Amino acid sequence: MAEKLEVKELVQVFNNQEVLRRISFSVKEGEFLSILGPSGCGKTTILRILIGLLQPSSGRILKDGRDITKFPASRRNMGIVFQNYALFQNMTVLDNVEYALKFTGEFKGSSRSRAESLIEQVGLTEHIRKKPYKLSGGQQQRVAIARTLAMNPEIILFDEPMSALDAATRLLLRDEIKEIQKKFHSTMIYITHDQEESFSLSDRIMVMDRGIIHQIGAPEEIIKNPAGDFVRDFVIANLQRKINSLAKYMGITTPERASASDREKPAYGL
Ligand SMILES: Nc1ncnc2c1ncn2[C@@H]1O[C@H](COP(=O)(O)OP(=O)(O)O)[C@@H](O)[C@H]1O
Ligand SMILES: [Mg+2]
Repeated sequence: MAEKLEVKELVQVFNNQEVLRRISFSVKEGEFLSILGPSGCGKTTILRILIGLLQPSSGRILKDGRDITKFPASRRNMGIVFQNYALFQNMTVLDNVEYALKFTGEFKGSSRSRAESLIEQVGLTEHIRKKPYKLSGGQQQRVAIARTLAMNPEIILFDEPMSALDAATRLLLRDEIKEIQKKFHSTMIYITHDQEESFSLSDRIMVMDRGIIHQIGAPEEIIKNPAGDFVRDFVIANLQRKINSLAKYMGITTPERASASDREKPAYGL
């Protein structure tokens, strides 16, 4: 797979403080990369730089090998899904999605039928004439995803899209995001502070803290080979705690005490 996006030695200084400290990473075409780290570590700052809302103090961004660091947001062809949906509350679901199609001006066919088809793909056909505030948080987030897909971006960025949702809705939406990625083959960058979310969704995870990258790897690589104390504490210990409390709740043996044959299986599908 070709590199879709390359980030080179990105530095961001706010008030004389280095919030991003020469970070470099790349994302392949069609890949799902999550950026996992505690609150305040610099995740949203990376995303704002990628999408063109913020000029970095130094460093470069390449898309398909081309330097886009100085490109305005409108020329980057990236879509974003925020935590708070950012929908037009006075417009119906259909109008919200169709508006995005008109806005881009790229789509030549019937914007109405394309919008309807996207809404169907996120499972909201029966709500197509409703205003967003009539919908649940999970449904509103699906409208926001349909709207982003409508713009046909090369890269879709998510900034903690599930943080306002309850646990059950998160699970549903997680599956849906995975499905959408399979269907649209989009390159996706997904920001989260939730270990479980990143491990269940991603091809690769970039673990960061305080403006530096601690490890970039596939979920199984990170579990088998955590790069240091931060990854062990923030990622592995956290997942282990969740597994243990789930096991306790279900009254089953915890992984440490599982039989040798069980140990060869991947731990709970992670
Ligand atoms: N516009 C800004 N001006 C000053 N400091 C900022 C600004 N944006 C973010 N920061 C600081 O940069 C750090 C990283 O913020 P952010 O990227 O939002 O973290 P995250 O998304 O991982 O929670 C935080 O300490 C935050 O207070
Ligand atoms: Mg953030």
